[in-house]
Amino acid sequence: MTCLSPPHRAIRPADEAATREKLDYRINHAGDLFMGAVASMGDEEGHVKDSIIGYICGTLANSSELTHESMSKHEPGGRTLCIHSVCVESASRRQGLATRMLRAYPSFVREHQPQIDEIRLICKAYLVQLYQQGGFDIVGPSPVVHGQDPWIEMKLDMAQVDAKIQQLEELDRKRRSWYF
Ligand SMILES: CC(C)(COP(=O)(O)OP(=O)(O)OC[C@H]1O[C@@H](n2cnc3c(N)ncnc32)[C@H](O)[C@@H]1OP(=O)(O)O)[C@@H](O)C(=O)NCCC(=O)NCCS
Repeated sequence: MTCLSPPHRAIRPADEAATREKLDYRINHAGDLFMGAVASMGDEEGHVKDSIIGYICGTLANSSELTHESMSKHEPGGRTLCIHSVCVESASRRQGLATRMLRAYPSFVREHQPQIDEIRLICKAYLVQLYQQGGFDIVGPSPVVHGQDPWIEMKLDMAQVDAKIQQLEELDRKRRSWYF
């Protein structure tokens, strides 16, 4: 998993990108909150190669308040999961992969960390729609200052997640049937 650092830095604005140290900390302390999307490609000789084309990572906090301090450490057993990164490699973007990862992530983390009550994150305004497609609701402007632009805080209640994702998937099916 240490191979994640260079692509991560390459696809995030310099003032937002996690440092190598921060990523190593998250991998070493909260490795079971890392979920990767893997693509298997076969070559002409029949060799299959797996590569990571996307990932989500986070850390746990005891408090539901997202601050610089609570987001910079991992508190094992914490009931609030803070998502730090949702990343998809450039060639695989705008094909719904981040949406699929966001919808799969709650069940993935629940397997190892059943105590989690909610998942929170902060994002730039232009990505609010992405996280809404993953079931998140807007909390409001975040007090966190990181990089140049303001951040919006969003959250997903684990008690509602299954029903919400089912509703969103039903809506997607209906949209597809309207268009085709
Ligand atoms: C942001 C990111 C994860 C999106 O991944 P993706 O797989 O392309 O996202 P999806 O295809 O699931 O997008 C679903 C919807 O989210 C919104 N969306 C996704 N990327 C967007 C962008 N760059 N700008 C505006 N809206 C965007 C759109 O509404 C999109 O639906 P549409 O394609 O029908 O218009 C990807 O562009 C990325 O890795 N960027 C660099 C890292 C980053 O900034 N991550 C977010 C903060 S950690």
